[in-house]
Amino acid sequence: MSAPPTPRAPRPGWAARPMRRGDLAQVAQIEARIFPFPWTYGNFADSLAAGYDGWVFEASEGPGGLLGYAIVMWLPDEVHLLNLSVDAPVQGLGLGAAILDWLVDDAGARGARSMLLEVRPSNTPALRLYERKGFHRVGLRRRYYPAHDGAREDAIVMVRRLASDPFRG
Ligand SMILES: CC(C)(COP(=O)(O)OP(=O)(O)OC[C@H]1O[C@@H](n2cnc3c(N)ncnc32)[C@H](O)[C@@H]1OP(=O)(O)O)[C@@H](O)C(=O)NCCC(=O)NCCS
Repeated sequence: MSAPPTPRAPRPGWAARPMRRGDLAQVAQIEARIFPFPWTYGNFADSLAAGYDGWVFEASEGPGGLLGYAIVMWLPDEVHLLNLSVDAPVQGLGLGAAILDWLVDDAGARGARSMLLEVRPSNTPALRLYERKGFHRVGLRRRYYPAHDGAREDAIVMVRRLASDPFRG
């Protein structure tokens, strides 16, 4: 894995930068707004402490503000997308797709051969986004996520090969 390149904008008018500890209160606030079973402040703090990549995406024009974020864990030559989130008022405007493209480009440029993620079968927007962006279903993790009334929900495991995969079709 090589050093991260200077972050480029995911799309005009947007800026990407590494997540800092000072972002975590706001990140946890957005997370609680958009997920029924959100990560906690501590989950994000632990991720940064563990050396995972944390990225935040904000408007670089106008009033600005943090509107999306992602957590990516590096394995030797694969990345695991642990969290991809866009704040509720700006969902459905193409930002999630732009962030995912940005994450794929960044990981590929830094030598990752594939990106892996888990997604709830009930999360139609996320599933459609991943399928549209070339992720393929490769497995199912039974009872992976907490669900309402003490139930559990399976996770669909998806993978996409990246630019530096020599076996990419
Ligand atoms: C999933 C998420 C990251 C997508 O980001 P977004 O900015 O809302 O999505 P985009 O506007 O970029 O749309 C990308 C694609 O997602 C799908 N999509 C977005 N909103 C959708 C909706 N309400 N219903 C169905 N599909 C939807 C579509 O396939 C869309 O492509 P299209 O415009 O060609 O139809 C965002 O909605 C989010 O943060 N949701 C809550 C957190 C979450 O579920 N994260 C993923 C966990 S695995």
